Amino acid sequence: MKVNTTLTYEAIQAAQQRTPAWRVEDLIGGERRMDFTKPFLPEGLAGVESLDFLSMDDRRTLNQIRGHEYLSIFGLVEEFILPFVLDHARPRLRDDDHRVRALLQFAGEEAKHIQLFKRFREEFTAGFGTRCNVIGPPEAVAAEVLKRHPLAVALLILHIEWMTQKHFLEGVKDNRDIDPLFRSLLKHHWMEEANHAKLDTLMVQALGDSCSLEERMAAFGQYLELGMFLDQGLAGQLDMNLDAFSRATQRKLTESQWTQVRDAQRRAMRWTYIGSGITHPMFLESVEALDPSLRRKAEEVGPAFC
Ligand SMILES: [Fe+2]
Ligand SMILES: [Fe+2]
Repeated sequence: MKVNTTLTYEAIQAAQQRTPAWRVEDLIGGERRMDFTKPFLPEGLAGVESLDFLSMDDRRTLNQIRGHEYLSIFGLVEEFILPFVLDHARPRLRDDDHRVRALLQFAGEEAKHIQLFKRFREEFTAGFGTRCNVIGPPEAVAAEVLKRHPLAVALLILHIEWMTQKHFLEGVKDNRDIDPLFRSLLKHHWMEEANHAKLDTLMVQALGDSCSLEERMAAFGQYLELGMFLDQGLAGQLDMNLDAFSRATQRKLTESQWTQVRDAQRRAMRWTYIGSGITHPMFLESVEALDPSLRRKAEEVGPAFC
C-alpha cells in the first residue's frame, strides 16, 4: 500500500530544515503594501478574462475579490488542518523523533499561515475600500469537517496540499503580472506546503494501513461528502463575491451578463478548490494505494469540477 517508498519522516524533516525560514512580518507590513492597480490571482484561478463585456478595471476588481476569497478560504481550511495534525501527532509522541518533530513543525507552519492569511486580509480590507464578506465561521466549518473519519479528513487535507502546489507551479511561479506582494505570499506558502504534501501522503498511508478495505471505502465516501460540503460553501461564497463586485463597481449588468459572470465564476471556483485537487496525479496515486476502485471513482467525479 506504499505510494513512495523513499518517503520517510527523517527525509521530510531534513527537507523542512533546508526550507528557508520566513516570518509573517517579512512578507507584509511597513513599506510592503499591496498594489491595487494589479490583479492578485493568476487568470487560471480567477477566470475573469472571458467576461469581455466587463471593462478591464472591472475584471481586475473581480480578480481582487477572488484574491480576498482565496485568502479567506485558505484561512478557513488551515483552521481544521492545525488541530487535525496535532491530534495525529499526539498518540505517538515516543515512537519516532523525526515523525514528532516533522508533524509539530507542520502544525507550527499552519498556525503561521493562519496568521499570514489574516494579515493579508486586514491589508486587503484597508486598501480595497469595499467590504467583502466570507462564509464561515471557521469553528463551525472545522467542526463539520472534523466529525468525519480521520482518513476522510486526511484525504481532504492531502487534496488541499497538492492543489496548492499546482496553483503556484502552474499559475504563479513565472507570473510577473500579479501583485508582487500577493505573489510573495503564494510563493512562501507553497515552499512550506511542499513538505506538508509529503507528510500528508504518509498520514493517508498510515491511516489507510490501520483500516479494513470496507473502512477505507467508507472514508473515501466521506471525503466525497466533504467535497460536496465545500462545493455548497463555494456557492454561498460566490453570492458574497458578486454582491461585493456589485457594490465596488456600481455596475449595472443585464440579466444575461450576470448569468455569464455567475457561470464563469462558479466554474473557476470549483476548479480552484475542488477540480485542481481531486485530479492531481499525486493525490490520485495516494487514493489508488487505498484501493484501485477508489481512484476510478475519483476520476469519475473529478471532471465535473474542471
Ligand atoms: Fe498552509
Ligand atoms: Fe499545509
